[in-house]
Amino acid sequence: MNEEQQGKKRGEMIVVLSAKGGVGKTTLTVNLGLALFKKNIRVCLLDGDFQFGDVALALDLHPTFSMKEIAEEIDRVDEHSILSYLCHHDSGVKVLPAPPRPEFADLVSEQILQKVIDHLLIHFDYVMVDTGLGLDEKSLQLIEKADQLLIVTNLEMTTLKNTKLLLETIDILGLRDKVKIVINRATMESVIQATDIPEILGVEDPFYIPNDFQVASQSLNIGIPFVINHGRTEIAKAIFQMADGLTSRREIAIFNKKPPSLLSRMLGSRRHKGAKTE
Ligand SMILES: Nc1ncnc2c1ncn2[C@@H]1O[C@H](COP(=O)(O)OP(=O)(O)OP(=O)(O)O)[C@@H](O)[C@H]1O
Ligand SMILES: [Mg+2]
Repeated sequence: MNEEQQGKKRGEMIVVLSAKGGVGKTTLTVNLGLALFKKNIRVCLLDGDFQFGDVALALDLHPTFSMKEIAEEIDRVDEHSILSYLCHHDSGVKVLPAPPRPEFADLVSEQILQKVIDHLLIHFDYVMVDTGLGLDEKSLQLIEKADQLLIVTNLEMTTLKNTKLLLETIDILGLRDKVKIVINRATMESVIQATDIPEILGVEDPFYIPNDFQVASQSLNIGIPFVINHGRTEIAKAIFQMADGLTSRREIAIFNKKPPSLLSRMLGSRRHKGAKTE
């Protein structure tokens, strides 16, 4: 029985962020989103880079609606109508693209973003959010609202220095428990080894994604995530493993929740039997 049937009706929000640009956030968001969907999990990708978002491009989508239309028509957006604004990817994953031009980013207020997130979490098991650069108000809002934060880094000293600063900030906000580090391009030749990074950053059990520029860059350029057409490569396998890791943590979290009382279980099963099909 899933959470919706149990009446909880709330998915999880995973926010993908980094302390430096170009480290692989969008690559990770779209591939991980599709890998989760392949596990029969309802996934929506939200492009949280409201100025220069490229999630739609990474999936070769040509959206009619984006966050811009939602912001303009927010009074008409409710938990049902929000679905009609989403873009459908052939894989089955739904996408809420960023506004088409950077000047529209300001239309997305904190209140609008809050409403959108709340509505999406009713329908999807996972809302995966790609983010832009910097810690502005909206990204801080996303960080605070997230259930899990995936911080992407690579083996470069400048990225690591900034990742450490980002971790410290998240620590100050009291949100460190949500963080999981993703070391992208982990097999790249570098003076810093991927295995040194947990100690450098003071983190445990990061996810490692190998370096495969040919597959990764071709995938972004043609708009077909590599988990679809290069599923047997090491880079895709690492993403599938990550999807397994994330969902097993969620299963544990759900399992650890207080079991429903006998009475609510009985009421639940009676309601279930008598339920109308929608
Ligand atoms: N594991 C990988 N191996 C090799 N190349 C990779 C890997 N992951 C991403 N790349 C490449 O790194 C570049 C940046 O990736 P991507 O656009 O996903 O980063 P980003 O963090 O979203 O960037 P931005 O900050 O501009 O949004 C792309 O050319 C992509 O193909
Ligand atoms: Mg990006």
